[in-house]
Amino acid sequence: MDLQLREKIILVTGGSKGLGLACAKLIALEGATVFIASRNEKHLRSAAASIMKESGGTVSWFKCDVSKESEISSLASDIMKSNGGIDGMVINAGGPPPGGAITISEEDWRQALSQNLLSAVRLCKAFVPSMKERGGGRVVAITSVSAKQPIENLVLSNTTRLGVIGYLKTLAGEVGKDGILINSVLPGPTLTGRLEGLLEDQARRQDRTVAAVKEERQQAIPVGRFGKPSELAALVTFLISSRNSYITGQAIAVDGGYVQFPL
Ligand SMILES: NC(=O)c1ccc[n+]([C@@H]2O[C@H](COP(=O)([O-])OP(=O)(O)OC[C@H]3O[C@@H](n4cnc5c(N)ncnc54)[C@H](OP(=O)(O)O)[C@@H]3O)[C@@H](O)[C@H]2O)c1
Repeated sequence: MDLQLREKIILVTGGSKGLGLACAKLIALEGATVFIASRNEKHLRSAAASIMKESGGTVSWFKCDVSKESEISSLASDIMKSNGGIDGMVINAGGPPPGGAITISEEDWRQALSQNLLSAVRLCKAFVPSMKERGGGRVVAITSVSAKQPIENLVLSNTTRLGVIGYLKTLAGEVGKDGILINSVLPGPTLTGRLEGLLEDQARRQDRTVAAVKEERQQAIPVGRFGKPSELAALVTFLISSRNSYITGQAIAVDGGYVQFPL
């Protein structure tokens, strides 16, 4: 299927590693011009080089910490000046630290709210108006299955992801008639640096080996294994394309069947 992504400009935040990088690669392979943004210049340079090598496409990178309002404003103003706007945006950032409902510090709550909730609000406020001027657009946020089924010791994720989904469903209702479609994709456990860190944390807390924790976690997934970043990227790439013409306001899990609620 031709996803008709050639001539489109797609921004992927948190695009230098893990799930964001996998999305940026696949979107570039489909012919879009890709902009990646994250905090660390070294990660960005290496990601841009690997995306260009694999796709032969055009990639630009921007240093931007999406937990900071001022950095999102600078990112938007740079992109508006150079390109006049974007056609699509994958909203993504690092996950919040582990911790329980009572023990998380006030500072960690503030940081998670900025990085994993307000970032989505601010990125939409900065870029969705330009999509309207260009005649339409697509937004996909990478959140987590924790929005459907709380994950033990991850209260910051369990809480902020629901906020993002509520915000995006509201926005989807406001801009659908402008040709702008907005969805969330909810990864289950997927093999990235983030998952490795969480498995190590769980092994340490439970005084078990990482291998034992990994085995138990994989057995709890109906397909019997963790996901690959490219498997999530396949759905994101479809949703960000104009081939997605009638799906909006949805929160779709890519989790090997991990969440078993009927809806
Ligand atoms: N992997 C999983 O199993 C899984 C499951 C459910 C949900 N998720 C969620 O999916 C998202 C991506 O996960 P991942 O596994 O790909 O994580 P990852 O491997 O840690 O990659 C995170 C990416 O985000 C960037 N980043 C981190 N903080 C940022 C910030 N404040 N502003 C801009 N960029 C930032 C990082 O680059 P820099 O260091 O250069 O900034 C990196 O490119 C996270 O929110 C995670 O919680 C992941």
